[in-house]
Amino acid sequence: MAIRRISAAEAASLVRHDDNVGFSGFTHAGCPKVVPLEIARQAEQKHAKGEPFAIGIFTGASTGDNIDGALSRANAIKFRTPYQTNSDIRNATNNGSVNYFDLHLSTLAQELRYGFYGEVDVAIIEASDITEDGKIVPTCGVGLAPTIIQMAKLVIVELNRWHPKELRGIHDLLNLQDPPHREEIHITNVRSRIGKDYIQADPAKIVIVETNVPNDGSSFAPIDEITAKIGENTANFLVEEIKRGTIPPSFLPIQSGVGNVANAVLAAMGSNKDIPDFEVYTEVIQDAIIDLLEKGRITFASGGTLTVSNPYIERVYQNLPFFKERILLRTSEISNNPEVIRRLGIISMNTAIEADIFGNINSTHITGSKIMNGLGGSGDFTRNAYISIFLTPSTAKNGNISAFVPMVSHSDHTEHSVKVIVSEYGVADLRGKSPKERAECIIENCAHPDYRPLLYQYLASGAKGQTPVNLHNAFAFHKAFMETGSMKNAVMSL
Ligand code: COA
Repeated sequence: MAIRRISAAEAASLVRHDDNVGFSGFTHAGCPKVVPLEIARQAEQKHAKGEPFAIGIFTGASTGDNIDGALSRANAIKFRTPYQTNSDIRNATNNGSVNYFDLHLSTLAQELRYGFYGEVDVAIIEASDITEDGKIVPTCGVGLAPTIIQMAKLVIVELNRWHPKELRGIHDLLNLQDPPHREEIHITNVRSRIGKDYIQADPAKIVIVETNVPNDGSSFAPIDEITAKIGENTANFLVEEIKRGTIPPSFLPIQSGVGNVANAVLAAMGSNKDIPDFEVYTEVIQDAIIDLLEKGRITFASGGTLTVSNPYIERVYQNLPFFKERILLRTSEISNNPEVIRRLGIISMNTAIEADIFGNINSTHITGSKIMNGLGGSGDFTRNAYISIFLTPSTAKNGNISAFVPMVSHSDHTEHSVKVIVSEYGVADLRGKSPKERAECIIENCAHPDYRPLLYQYLASGAKGQTPVNLHNAFAFHKAFMETGSMKNAVMSL
């Protein structure tokens, strides 16, 4: 019997108050687009009638505005995990109207299967193709799709004709076995395939909504002088490591984080002639990776999503046979898997919001309390990398915020996992250094010159001990910013 085709409104009406809903995709890429908008519209109608409506939301990572934006504006979110970047849900989280919990992206699929977060009532999946016997082919982002399809009682497939059905073959899809006897994940190479190119679902639980809606892929900020310099410093550091013999001459696979800085670093690596052609094992395939694949500087890219701006996705779709030989899209459980990251020897490069002078990193919070986006995959990669690198401009907000502070206002990655920090001023190689040596190295090489005297003053005020912190002054930078609008006004009590 053919799988039932229904309208987006009808599909949305199948989602009930208090349901837990899993959405496919990773960033806006691969996320369903029309059914979530309908859920938000129907939620507003219910609220107007005084009826409650809110759902729990599981995703691979962040989503498009149609999910996080529309549902938070409709006050239709019971809880949200594991990552978000939309300004409306960020504001709703920070004003307390959305309960958000931050997770390592590699862990959510297995924790859903373990039952930590209850049932998955509905899975809503964007597909580029589906067969009548229930073989679902995702689009340009995968995320949790195999797990939520397996667990959900109802699977709503948005069959989006904007994506070519010839995408089939670009994915490597599977659910991992659960402990205690999980076998090794047999990925020994960036190109290894261990799964199928579709996800099998029971056709009896599927309904299909046909759509034709473009991605909402916006462009990156142009590479400016500061991000270009961070890129150059990172590339030069990696070249020195090859010369020193600590990175093999054939090089190692690269993971690069999300955002403008990561995009600029990849571009700098691509144009550095001393870096050999390289492979990428990452979660987010951004615009710079497409450019470098076309130039042959990147020879293969394994990721969880093609999060590229729309002109780039059109380039990929127009030349699909070329890109299908060079790109593999995996689930977040595999793209970010600690076992695989260690086996392949990934060099990780992620962006920090702030670092303290002892090498602890805050990737997620502004002045301790306000969430920015979330941890994403930065912890999955940093903790397991061959070399973990953090990148950051030395200052933010016209120089009034120093990215290097006495003590981070929120801790995501500890001194033990952070090997190298890079700013536009230089590189702090923290390997083999004591906390005091790390502090001197970070201040001297990475901090903005305007903040170096204050940071040295702080260090001098530190208590005797393994880590010379001064608990009276630890948040002097943040306090000065909150009270005067600039960290430059920090006062150290000596
Ligand atoms: N205090 C306050 N604001 C700060 C700040 C600080 N210490 N450091 C940066 N910011 C602000 C910037 O001013 C900018 O604000 P704007 O959007 O209003 O201009 C914003 O944060 C983003 O900074 P930007 O320099 O453009 O960097 P980015 O686009 O590369 O994003 C992160 C940086 C840290 C927010 C982003 O990389 C992130 O969310 N990381 C965590 C998840 C992660 O690492 N995922 C990758 C794993 S694969």
